[in-house]
Amino acid sequence: MNTIYLDNAATSFPKPDAVADAMVRYLREVGAPLNRSVYQNAQEAELVTLSLREGLKRFFHFPEKATHVILTPGNTYGLNFLIKGLLHPGDHVIVSAMEHNAVMRPLLQLSQVSFDRLPADSDGFVDPGDIRKLVRQNTKLILMAHGSNVCGSVQNASAIGSIAAQYGIPFALDGAQTAGHFPLDFEGLQLSALSVPGHKGLLGPSGIGALLMTEELAQRLTPLVAGGTGSASDSELLPAYLPDRFESGTLNLPGIYGWEAAMGFVYARGVDALRAHEIQLTGRFIEGLRDIQSVRLCGPTSLENRVGVLSLDFLRQDNAAVAYELEQRFGILTRCGLHCAPAAHRSLGTFPKGTVRFSLGYANTEADVDAALAAIRALA
Ligand SMILES: Cc1ncc(COP(=O)(O)O)c(C=O)c1O
Repeated sequence: MNTIYLDNAATSFPKPDAVADAMVRYLREVGAPLNRSVYQNAQEAELVTLSLREGLKRFFHFPEKATHVILTPGNTYGLNFLIKGLLHPGDHVIVSAMEHNAVMRPLLQLSQVSFDRLPADSDGFVDPGDIRKLVRQNTKLILMAHGSNVCGSVQNASAIGSIAAQYGIPFALDGAQTAGHFPLDFEGLQLSALSVPGHKGLLGPSGIGALLMTEELAQRLTPLVAGGTGSASDSELLPAYLPDRFESGTLNLPGIYGWEAAMGFVYARGVDALRAHEIQLTGRFIEGLRDIQSVRLCGPTSLENRVGVLSLDFLRQDNAAVAYELEQRFGILTRCGLHCAPAAHRSLGTFPKGTVRFSLGYANTEADVDAALAAIRALA
């Protein structure tokens, strides 16, 4: 039985061929460190890394230099670097009621930092105006998921950025579900920081991500990891300059090669075309659900402010059993449960049962959507 991959919100698949090719080429033919040695292959690794930083800078309309594109071991690490590096005892943070545990768990580890959640409606949207009710004198950060990994709702980041700017509070986005899926303009949204994974909509490998931040924020951020940077080796202190200050240790070079190749693909397609394809499939999916009773789509039915993450609640069944049947009988790969975001399910009214999540990617087709709909119909 052929399988149909509808778990792109977890990690994108398949990757463009160029990704594996670049990673294999690094491992077989390049094999040099970064920022340490100066022979030819090492210089090549240097250039590929710079090209990745430059590609991310261009893609996200990032106004700072490419030095401020910090490569991380993944989005969760980028969010931890931001939360734990910026906040101090007594500080206050505003998040949304749709957050992933990659935000909530590090925040809850900081027992002396308080937070408020912007409430979300039953479609997973916050009202940016509510920020005004939550801002305090000690609010040091407004941080939220741009797109929900549970229901696909995309927050009005532009309105949130304007309000944050009025109060002079840094605004940061977790771009896990929108990077590569939805236009994300760092400067236009008045962001201070953006954390993204390499392995989702940006089509790279796992184990790598990026934290983009303004110089102003970088000045206030304590590096959580210290060690060798290959630079300023006469000193036992971390260099003051970026990216070295936040990139101790040998970076994930196979990941850098793979992600750089992936960014070439994503950039050539363009986020608008990627989004148009995904939204066309999302519309077809939602339309096809209309006549299926006993299945509830949790989240927005309009296509405007959403990505192709669709959560279904099978009202008369156990959702985990449905996901199992989808794979066993139809070869359809989804994810069930709470998707590391219990608060989002509380907002959507699906806690603790959870949902079956179907998430679309650039490689999915109308035939994939039709097959999923036929399977849902058969199971419901
Ligand atoms: C909204 C959101 N934030 C954070 C993360 C964590 O990203 P990663 O697992 O790539 O570190 C995810 C992953 O699913 C996510 O969907």
